[in-house]
Amino acid sequence: MKSKTTFFCTDCGNETPKWTGQCAVCGSWNTIVEQPEVKVRPKTGGSRPGGTPGKTPRELQQLDISDEMRFTTGFVELDRVLGGGAVAGSLVLVGGSPGIGKSTLLLQICGLIEGSLKILYVSGEESERQIKMRAERLGVTRGDVFVLAETDMAEVLSATEELKPDILIIDSIQTLYNPDMSSSPGSVAQVKDCTASLMRLSKGVGTTVFLVGHVNKEGAIAGPKVLEHMVDCVLSFEGERMSSYRILRSAKNRFGSTNEIGVFEMLGTGLGQVMNPSEMLLTGRPIGAPGTCVTCVIEGTRPILAEIQALVSPSSLSMPRRNSNGVEYSRAMMLLAVLQQRGGLRVGGCDAYINVIGGLSIDDPGADLATVLALASAYKDKPVRDDLAAIGEVGLSGELRQVSQVNQRLAEIARMGFSTCVLPHMVSGGLQIPQGLGLIHVKTITEAITRCCV
Ligand code: TYD
Ligand code: MG
Repeated sequence: MKSKTTFFCTDCGNETPKWTGQCAVCGSWNTIVEQPEVKVRPKTGGSRPGGTPGKTPRELQQLDISDEMRFTTGFVELDRVLGGGAVAGSLVLVGGSPGIGKSTLLLQICGLIEGSLKILYVSGEESERQIKMRAERLGVTRGDVFVLAETDMAEVLSATEELKPDILIIDSIQTLYNPDMSSSPGSVAQVKDCTASLMRLSKGVGTTVFLVGHVNKEGAIAGPKVLEHMVDCVLSFEGERMSSYRILRSAKNRFGSTNEIGVFEMLGTGLGQVMNPSEMLLTGRPIGAPGTCVTCVIEGTRPILAEIQALVSPSSLSMPRRNSNGVEYSRAMMLLAVLQQRGGLRVGGCDAYINVIGGLSIDDPGADLATVLALASAYKDKPVRDDLAAIGEVGLSGELRQVSQVNQRLAEIARMGFSTCVLPHMVSGGLQIPQGLGLIHVKTITEAITRCCV
């Protein structure tokens, strides 16, 4: 039988049945090469060609997971995002734009991990001397930390074989390359190939691997997107360059929830953990100013206070300008429409801007009421009381709906020194009202606005 050949692009991995000069998917020229179709291996009765016995299915009940060990990374905030510490033998991808602090985070871990774990830090971006200088600044004094400035995947693998580290840190996956492949470092094919080698390492030998991945807008360098299905956890490190706060969130986690966030602050001595994010997000809040309202959202298992700001001004455009930062755009537009139709405020002809302070992005509907109050307050130019926080989901008829985990939110609001909380009329389950916190129950947004923006 004639074996069928296919062609594939060495840059993006796209397969085509015919040879072309330009790849139809990524647009690169002369990257299509022939690839004979993989032959299906004939069955050999349970044993593999090498003579090793094949794997037989095992009963789930009987599997032993005692070796699924977790260890703490030394950062409580990182452990939380990973689902309670890093799982030994897992492959964790830390993505983020350049300069956000990925190298700093991972180098700091080298100094913080407890126990007798051996760590190998491979950098393709900095020399050993530079890493040493940075490590000194960060106060990394722990022993059993090895560094290697290398970009050749084969060298990295042989170094790991020799050293047998428990933890391998690769900074960054875009700088690694396999010399047997013709495409350049950072191309999708290279990045995929190197990640696959690292995956074999983590699943086979049980080394825990942390990978740094840069993301960029142009897509010239393979972003970590293509790797997401290969790794166990995808963490993204976010924050605005001008602000010192950084938020670590997980986009994928095979060993825990993806709702948790970790909050850090970039200091002169590296990253510090922000144990009290509510306090951080509320610092510098304007007092007595219209257009701001505080709410409490649940991020994973933690209640966090957030300040929502709004600016509403009459528009000279036929299509008023709207912008929303931190609250999903379509949700913000819905709230504006509800405010116009059910709240009786003529915001339709106004430019409206919504912003959540501190780079937090909120997808908790419990923040609806605070968004509406911030908008109404901005429109009426009347401040919401400073010691007031609002929680509640807004429905399309302007009614307020209950939110989850009310008691946890109330406790956090009271802890941060607020004396009043506006919340929906109906709350299922027993309310535990913290001492010193007054509640205002409201049924509709109109009622909330008349009682809060005076
Ligand atoms: P870095 O970890 O190199 O970013 P990435 O690896 O994600 O590209 O962090 C770079 C930025 O962090 C740099 O602009 C300087 C700042 N920084 C501090 O403010 N304090 C510090 O102690 C360190 C090490 C870096
Ligand atoms: Mg770096």
